[in-house]
Amino acid sequence: MPAAKPPVTAVIVGAGHRAMLYASYARKHPEELRIVGVADPTEYRRRDAQAEFGFPAENCFDSAEALAARGKIADAVINGTMDHQHVPTSLPLLAAGYDMLLEKPFAVNEAEMWELAGAARRGGRKVMICHVLRYAPFYAAIRERLAAGTIGEVINAQYTEHVSYHHVAVGYVRGKWARRAECHATMLMAKSCHDLDLMAWMKSGVRPVRVASFGSNFQFRPEKAPARSGTRCLLDCPIEPECLYSARKHYLDHPRRWRFYAWAALEDEKNPTPERMYQHMRDESPYGRCAWKCGNDVVDHQSVAVDFADGSTATLNMIGGCSKADRTIHLIGTTGEIQGSMDAESFVVRRITPAPGGPEYSEETVDLKVSGDTTGAFGGHGGGDMRLVADFVRFMRDEPRSISCTSIDDSVNGHLMGFLADRSREEGRVFELPGPR
Ligand SMILES: NC(=O)c1ccc[n+]([C@@H]2O[C@H](COP(=O)([O-])OP(=O)(O)OC[C@H]3O[C@@H](n4cnc5c(N)ncnc54)[C@H](O)[C@@H]3O)[C@@H](O)[C@H]2O)c1
Repeated sequence: MPAAKPPVTAVIVGAGHRAMLYASYARKHPEELRIVGVADPTEYRRRDAQAEFGFPAENCFDSAEALAARGKIADAVINGTMDHQHVPTSLPLLAAGYDMLLEKPFAVNEAEMWELAGAARRGGRKVMICHVLRYAPFYAAIRERLAAGTIGEVINAQYTEHVSYHHVAVGYVRGKWARRAECHATMLMAKSCHDLDLMAWMKSGVRPVRVASFGSNFQFRPEKAPARSGTRCLLDCPIEPECLYSARKHYLDHPRRWRFYAWAALEDEKNPTPERMYQHMRDESPYGRCAWKCGNDVVDHQSVAVDFADGSTATLNMIGGCSKADRTIHLIGTTGEIQGSMDAESFVVRRITPAPGGPEYSEETVDLKVSGDTTGAFGGHGGGDMRLVADFVRFMRDEPRSISCTSIDDSVNGHLMGFLADRSREEGRVFELPGPR
C-alpha cells in the first residue's frame, strides 16, 4: 500500500469570515489540510486563529508582507483579504514560493488582473480562485451534461442573480461594498463575478468577444427615501416600525444572519449583551443607518450581454432588493435546453423529440435534493464552499481534480467580462474583449 500523503500545510492570510470558513476544512479533515500560521493586522483575529488551530506564536504575522519576508513556512496560503488587497498581498507571497487559494474577485481592475495572472504563470505557482459556485452540485451537474453534449451546442444562455433585500442592504447599501472609493470593486464584480465565471465556464473553449451592459442605483437614493424617514433607524426614525429596511428587523431580530458583517465591530467583545447590541446598532454601527441615506454609489441592479466567438450569446441580470434570493439558469442548445433554480437545487433537461404522434419534447427533472446530493455537509453556496477546499487539496497534491477546478487562467475571461461590462455601463459603449495574453 502506498504511504499516506502528509497533509497540505497552509497559512491563513486575512483571518476574516471567508478565510476562516475555508480553513475550517482542516478541522474536519486533518489528514488533508493543516493550518500552521496566520497573517492579519488585527490582533484578536490572529489570536482566535491561533487558538482554533494551535500553531506556535512565531507563526503569527501582522501582514501578508511580513509572512512573505519570513519565507516559506507552508505549502500554500489561503488568501481571504478584501478585494483590493488581493493583488498587493499575493504578489510577495507568490514570489516567496507559496501556492494559493485566493478569494474572488482576484483583482479589481484589468491591469492588476494581468499582473497577477502573469506572476503566477511565470513563477509556476498554483493559484486557485474561490469560484465556489462551480462546486455547487447544481452547477457542476449542469456542466457535466453540457460536456456530455446533452443539449448540443449552446446557442444562448440566460443567467439571473436575485439578491435578497437584506443581502443587498448589508453588502451594497450599508456595508463593505457600498462605495467604490472604499472597496474598489463594483457590485457586479463583488457579487456576480461568480455568475460571469459560470457564463465563461459553461462555454469552455469558446472565447467571449464583446460585452455591453446597463444598470443603475435605482432604489437606494435619498430622493427615494420614505416620507418622514430619519437618518438612523433606532435613533430618529418615526417610520421604523413599518420600514422594510429597518436595522432592527434586519440585524437585531436576526442577529446571526449577517453576523460577520453587521456585528463584526463587536467581534472582540465576545457575547455582547442585547443592550450593548441595541446601543451599537442605534448609535454607532454603519448598519444602523437609513438605507436610503448611506452615500452608496454602486448599482443595485445591472444587466450584461455577451457575444461569444462562435456567435452564441449570453445575458446576466443581477437584481438587488428581491423578496427571495435565487440564481437561475436557462441554457438553450441546438438539441435541447436546461432550465433550473439553484435555490430549488433542481433543473429540467428538455430535448427536442420530433417523432410523429409523440410530444414535442422530452423532459427530465434532476432534483439534487432527491438524489441525496444535498448541501448541508458542504457549507454555503449550494455546497460549493467545502468542495472547493477539497479540490484545492487535490490540486496541491497533483491528484485528479474535479470538472470544477479553476486555475487563475480559467478565471481571466469571467473577470474580463466584468471589468468591461462595468466600463460599458459607465461609458455607454460596447467593448471588445482582448485575446489571451
Ligand atoms: N467566494 C465567495 O462567495 C465570497 C463570499 C463573500 C466574500 N468573498 C470575498 O472574500 C474576501 C474576504 O471577505 P471577508 O468578508 O471575509 O473580509 P474580512 O474583512 O472579514 O477579512 C479580511 C481580513 O484581511 C485582513 N487584512 C487586511 N490587510 C491585510 C494584510 N496586508 N495582510 C493580511 N491580512 C490583512 C483584515 O484585518 C481582515 O481580518 C473579499 O474579497 C470578498 O469579496 C467571497
